[in-house]
Amino acid sequence: MLNRRRFIKTTALSTGIIVLNSKCTLSGKSPNKPIVISTWDFGVAANADAWKVLNRNGNALDAVEQGVKVAEADIKNQSVGYGGLPDRDGIVTLDASIMDHLGNCGAVLALEQIKHPISVARLVMEKTPHVMLAGNGALQFALEQGFKKENLLTEKSKKDWEIWLKTAKYEPVSNIENKLYDQAAPEMLPGNQYNHDTIGMLALDSSGNMAGACTTSGMAYKLHGRVGDSPIIGAGLYVDNEIGGATSTGVGEEVVRNVGSFLVVELMRQGYSPEEACKEAVMRIIHKKNKSTKKLQVGFLALNKNGEYGAYAIQKGFSYAICDSKKQDLILKGKSYY
Ligand code: GLY
Repeated sequence: MLNRRRFIKTTALSTGIIVLNSKCTLSGKSPNKPIVISTWDFGVAANADAWKVLNRNGNALDAVEQGVKVAEADIKNQSVGYGGLPDRDGIVTLDASIMDHLGNCGAVLALEQIKHPISVARLVMEKTPHVMLAGNGALQFALEQGFKKENLLTEKSKKDWEIWLKTAKYEPVSNIENKLYDQAAPEMLPGNQYNHDTIGMLALDSSGNMAGACTTSGMAYKLHGRVGDSPIIGAGLYVDNEIGGATSTGVGEEVVRNVGSFLVVELMRQGYSPEEACKEAVMRIIHKKNKSTKKLQVGFLALNKNGEYGAYAIQKGFSYAICDSKKQDLILKGKSYY
């Protein structure tokens, strides 16, 4: 006989309906805490800084901010912060969001010239009555808070953009980037490791509180002003301290269309494991795109209140990093649809 949680899950799977107000209790074994997880191999270095906070009984919010700042400052990482690939106009624009265990959240969209958008997002959360600041308003706020303007376009990213300009027509054609990668290896597909990605990080601290952060320079050579999923609460990041958190990487438009991270958390609320919830969110995208997802990457990563984690992606090649008391530099490959 089906128990209630399995019944809800089975019903949801077969009907596509999600029951939003049914709470599962993540009871059983004692939680694996503290723990921090993040997207991609570069998550290992980011987790290491987050772990310094968690390991001294610091809080999850401080941990995720410190952690993703490592990726934002990494000159070699061309998808996050300083050194990120620019938009079509050669301008680096950054998106970031952060969420704490009380459901507070803050975000910046299309922020220019500030190396650590995640810290600006945190101040939006803590010092304003708002959730999101965009463009010039976000920059003005950052400067008022003492951040300094910096040139974020490195020589390497400038060169890569100039090479792209030789072949790309300057036309606002939606998804023109995808056409450039028709013959590409899986890791070069839009949204995948070497093309476009994001750091999303989730932490559970020793007090049992959760927080998350997500930061990116977004899709390389995007239209100026394009904003992806990363700064949209519920899309690129969502945390519910009763249940767990989720974050995403890949082509943000598909995540926004499906409110992906919120969906993953709500599925965990219904009793799905983190991996099952990530898989169901990926299947939602595949179903809606009528399976025309061969050239598209989206990956979800989730952590529940017990410290259990999982991931799932459309394409092969999505990796994630885990750091807890047992092992601080674990990297796992996310399972995938293809
Ligand atoms: N996932 C990041 C973006 O699409 O901008």
